[in-house]
Amino acid sequence: MLLTTQISPPTEDALARAAAHLRSGALVAFPTETVYGLGADATNPTAVARIFEAKGRPQFNPLIVHVLDAAAATELGQFTANAKKLAAAFWPGPLTLVVKRGETCPIADLVSAGLPTLALRVPDHPIARALLTAFGKPLAAPSANRSGHVSATRAEHVAADLAGSVAMILDGGPVQHGLESTVLDVTSDEIVMLRPGAIPHARIEAVLGTTIARAEGSSIRPHSPGQLESHYATRAPLRLNAHDVRDGEALLAFGPNALATAGAAVNLSSKGDLVEAAANLFSALRDLDARNPRAIAVMAIPAHGLGDAINDRLKRAAAPRS
Ligand code: TXA
Ligand code: MG
Repeated sequence: MLLTTQISPPTEDALARAAAHLRSGALVAFPTETVYGLGADATNPTAVARIFEAKGRPQFNPLIVHVLDAAAATELGQFTANAKKLAAAFWPGPLTLVVKRGETCPIADLVSAGLPTLALRVPDHPIARALLTAFGKPLAAPSANRSGHVSATRAEHVAADLAGSVAMILDGGPVQHGLESTVLDVTSDEIVMLRPGAIPHARIEAVLGTTIARAEGSSIRPHSPGQLESHYATRAPLRLNAHDVRDGEALLAFGPNALATAGAAVNLSSKGDLVEAAANLFSALRDLDARNPRAIAVMAIPAHGLGDAINDRLKRAAAPRS
């Protein structure tokens, strides 16, 4: 779907229109103190799927959820004592905390790519804050650039990359830092820096009074690839590109011509719409897995658009595990 992208200064009227776009499931780009973000309603899986479609990334990497204050953040995730200390010291500001999801967390599974954790941040930019206030719900927002391009630090950069797939760009001029937020895994007492960013390592250590580990290289992945893979796995093995459903298997179908089965089945999109399929993927896998099938037969997913990211995810889940 090609949209006409409006670039607007952040007037009250523009903010109200931006919030309406977000409520309808469309994307809105906005400035933060680090880089421009590509925002969607974090509780709407279809809106979140549109982020991945717009960025053109062949993988579902987890996204940062933006909220107005620490109180809103603690409603979504579980904060350890250290996490609370860091939030008090650096929020609002360019620090992202990865925490365990709360028990009744309304954030779409697709936001964290099926992981049991959430990356949360309270931005300090007046326009980001005005948009969060007008919208009234958490915003999932990666940097507002096409995959493989550098992060956008001006509204014109966003337009060059994303015009046509974002409903509106709130123009706040050039951003302050130009460097993304620092990402810390604070799910346990062993705090790990997952991505270096606008808040230096030393300032974090000063607040904690201890040293913190850094993830390998410039890695932006959870603790280790192994850990990531295992979270990506269902208990039941997946059988990809299935042309039939065998005894004891559940079916993950796609498109109008679903295979016949008497067993449990979920169709990712009976219309064959890849955005809808991406939005349903993680909850569908979870639902089918909960029925304890012998295996999950998965119909072929077209290898274009969001199909690449869906297939990447399915291949990881199907990979043999130790
Ligand atoms: O400054 C910023 O952080 C900008 C602005 C827009 O807020 N956002 C940004 O988002 O850089 P993005 O999606 O480009 O980067 C998100 C980072 C990635 O390194 C991702 O791997 C990590 O956060 N991340 C998100 N959720 C995670 C999770 N549950 N576990 C581990 N890492 C996570
Ligand atoms: Mg990025």
